[in-house]
Amino acid sequence: MQIQDVELVISAVAPMQYPTDGLPEIALTGRSNVGKSSMINKLIQRKKMARTSSTPGKTQTLNFYKLNDAFYFVDVPGYGYAKVSKKDRESFSQMIETYLQERDNLRGVISLIDVRHEPTKDDLAMYKYLQFFGVPVLVVATKGDKVPRGKWNQRESKLKKALELNQTDDLVVFSSTTGIGGDQIWQWVEEHLAD
Ligand code: GTP
Ligand code: MG
Repeated sequence: MQIQDVELVISAVAPMQYPTDGLPEIALTGRSNVGKSSMINKLIQRKKMARTSSTPGKTQTLNFYKLNDAFYFVDVPGYGYAKVSKKDRESFSQMIETYLQERDNLRGVISLIDVRHEPTKDDLAMYKYLQFFGVPVLVVATKGDKVPRGKWNQRESKLKKALELNQTDDLVVFSSTTGIGGDQIWQWVEEHLAD
């Protein structure tokens, strides 16, 4: 997809602040530092729209990026980062749960997992949680550039098995460095925006 317009409409911490224009939304979840913000930047071809960092815990609010005046990507704080205080972690997870539970505009969730590692306990819990709410999920195994291309199939099957991936959900290997996998992600996004 060609993105002409990008606007960070709001960094929200509570439902009162969510946009009210009724446009469909795709949210991004995943462990802190897995590459959510980097993926947004690569997909929309802006280098620094979403703030990224080599230090985990960068994104601390629900950031609503309006694209082409037609839909939103919602960048979500990462989970599972031990150095974030217990109190902040609880408030992040509350914020994420409230959003995922209550948001009617939500059309799907892109759930990011590091292609190199087994899904963590938190990754598994998040996937189960999304299934429970019946939200369509695209699992993106990211940092694909860190694993030789010949190993991708093997990693893909392992991740699918570990997650017990639902038949209706999909998995794509992606890299924010090279952009590989981006077309498949856009295809999934377009299909789910149309639903
Ligand atoms: P939080 O906001 O803390 O939840 O993290 P995040 O998931 O938004 O991660 P972010 O995009 O800030 O990226 C974390 C680090 O991983 C940065 O140093 C990125 O440059 C790096 N990174 C992200 N995606 C990739 C990728 O596909 N390949 C490689 N090699 N590095 C990546
Ligand atoms: Mg981030």
